[in-house]
Amino acid sequence: MCGIIGVVQKRGDVAPFLHQALKRLEYRGYDSVGVTTIADGRLHIKKEKGKIEEVHRKLNLDEMPGSMGIGHTRWATHGIPSMLNSHPHFDCSGKIAVVHNGVIDNFMELRAELREKGHKLQSETDTEVIPHLIEDFMRDGMDLVHAVRETTKRIQGTYAIVAMSTNAEENYLVCTRDGNPLVIGRKKDVSYVSSDIPAFLPMTNDMILLLDGEIASLSADGIKIEKISDESEVHRDSIRISWTADQAQKSGYPHFMLKEIHEQPDAIRNTLRLRSEVIREAAEIINSSERIFMLAMGTSGHAARAGRHMFSSIAGILPVFELASDFSDTVYGALSDKDCIIAITQSGETTDTISAVKYAKEHGAKIIAITNVVGSSITRLADHTILTQAGPEIGVAATKTFMVQLTSLALLALSVGELTGFADSRVIKTKREFLEKLPDIISDTISRNEEPARRLAGQIYDKPSLLFLGRGVSMATAEEGALKLKEIAYNHAEAYSAGESKHGPIALVQNDYPVIFVVPNDETRSRMIGNIMEMKARGALVISVISKDDKELESLSNHIFTIPWDIEPEFSTMAFIIPLQLFSYYMALRKGYDPDKPRNLAKSVTVL
Ligand code: F6R
Repeated sequence: MCGIIGVVQKRGDVAPFLHQALKRLEYRGYDSVGVTTIADGRLHIKKEKGKIEEVHRKLNLDEMPGSMGIGHTRWATHGIPSMLNSHPHFDCSGKIAVVHNGVIDNFMELRAELREKGHKLQSETDTEVIPHLIEDFMRDGMDLVHAVRETTKRIQGTYAIVAMSTNAEENYLVCTRDGNPLVIGRKKDVSYVSSDIPAFLPMTNDMILLLDGEIASLSADGIKIEKISDESEVHRDSIRISWTADQAQKSGYPHFMLKEIHEQPDAIRNTLRLRSEVIREAAEIINSSERIFMLAMGTSGHAARAGRHMFSSIAGILPVFELASDFSDTVYGALSDKDCIIAITQSGETTDTISAVKYAKEHGAKIIAITNVVGSSITRLADHTILTQAGPEIGVAATKTFMVQLTSLALLALSVGELTGFADSRVIKTKREFLEKLPDIISDTISRNEEPARRLAGQIYDKPSLLFLGRGVSMATAEEGALKLKEIAYNHAEAYSAGESKHGPIALVQNDYPVIFVVPNDETRSRMIGNIMEMKARGALVISVISKDDKELESLSNHIFTIPWDIEPEFSTMAFIIPLQLFSYYMALRKGYDPDKPRNLAKSVTVL
């Protein structure tokens, strides 16, 4: 949520780099964009509402002088998307520039106080108090590092900040964080700081994490990190990232989302190669815990819901799933060191999930994290981390990260199953062999369903509302299918348990109302047929995702998507979600929307 970037180099203009880096961060927000550089002792500013390329066409973001600069792509929280509310924000003298990701909770009182002192604030944002506070401290004689340090003592909330000033004798950037991510990159004669790794991935694969409560100054010659509390210097090794810059490019696909759907077989393959000890250690924590909670949001929550079925059928334990945002309001502190949390978050930064994990930790619970981002906030809170191997996911709608979350949950359920002895060892072996075949299964499922998904979208794109029905583990598939459609094609889409559909939602159904049924060949199938008949009797347009050769369901449906392999029942979400991902993608295209940048959304949700 909001992408920030800063760069300082020995020579040459940084503007073209800032422009490209912001494009790589655009999945974090695209309400407005802004860049500020320093040259000839003054700030050069370009900022405007709109997506980066729209703004670039208007303002030419590549043409700005200066070998140091900062940039920001915004997901609006305080104040509408507008030029004035765009970052960077400045002090009264126009010498200090700041970009910020996060929320300053006490901004109202700080604004009042600053106005009282004569500061002129121009925007409606919470961020703007920061450069004005820095200005006051610098006026008292502090350098930028000390002024930013003192400013952090005045602001409450969450933040990642990068600041620069024309007052300094040499070029340097100052950055600090509390609750929002910042990573630092170094190359000879250049330093980078950003919200996320892809921003500077084409330049270096080595990154240094900045942690909460630390402040860093970056010059072209090097970086210095200190603790805010006692100014002691922090020495931290860099981490090598295996992601490649190519992975963060569209590589010939029209959209990241389509590319990432097609990358799912490889993402599964790489995740299956995780070291068995990593899975085993997590399984041991689960096996020795009395209660297991799964916490996540959005798509990761759907992975958790599907994961529950894997644990239940393979390991004989049923974890409690709770939306991370509601966890503390549900358990009322009734947690102990005998409890274990499985926290699932692809970004590792979702504030709802991080807050729930902190809460659980404070109450003694052990934390297992499943995340796709090395060094992310969740990894520093967790007792144990399973790092999924999807590579960078740029499309805002999660696809391949969902798939690898399911893959790691499957591996984990099998490992816990071995410990509990609930499932026969032959059953475990069969399921392991199935997982090995999964990359091919997913590959075939994508090829088989791409054209039917495009065709169906062409036929029903103008239907305003759809129902998605499933039972058992397919409920998770239905929920994820409905979420994808809502997110990128803006249809009203609701997922219901097919059993529950008769208790209310069926009232929506009349002639040609589309109802999507997720019907694997498992024990839910015969009851699902009953639900299809009920909906057909009321004129529904029946769209079914079914197993290959299911002639009976084919004859009951107006449209079908088929899964060309036999699927182990508790893993069915992995295959049955594919046609629904493709259907959402083609619905968005048919309706003229950009599936990579759905309105109002951002990839990493770092507000509560
Ligand atoms: C949906 C989507 C969101 C995220 C949710 C949690 O396509 O991407 O619903 O799943 O914001 O994000 P993470 O997994 O980063 O915690």
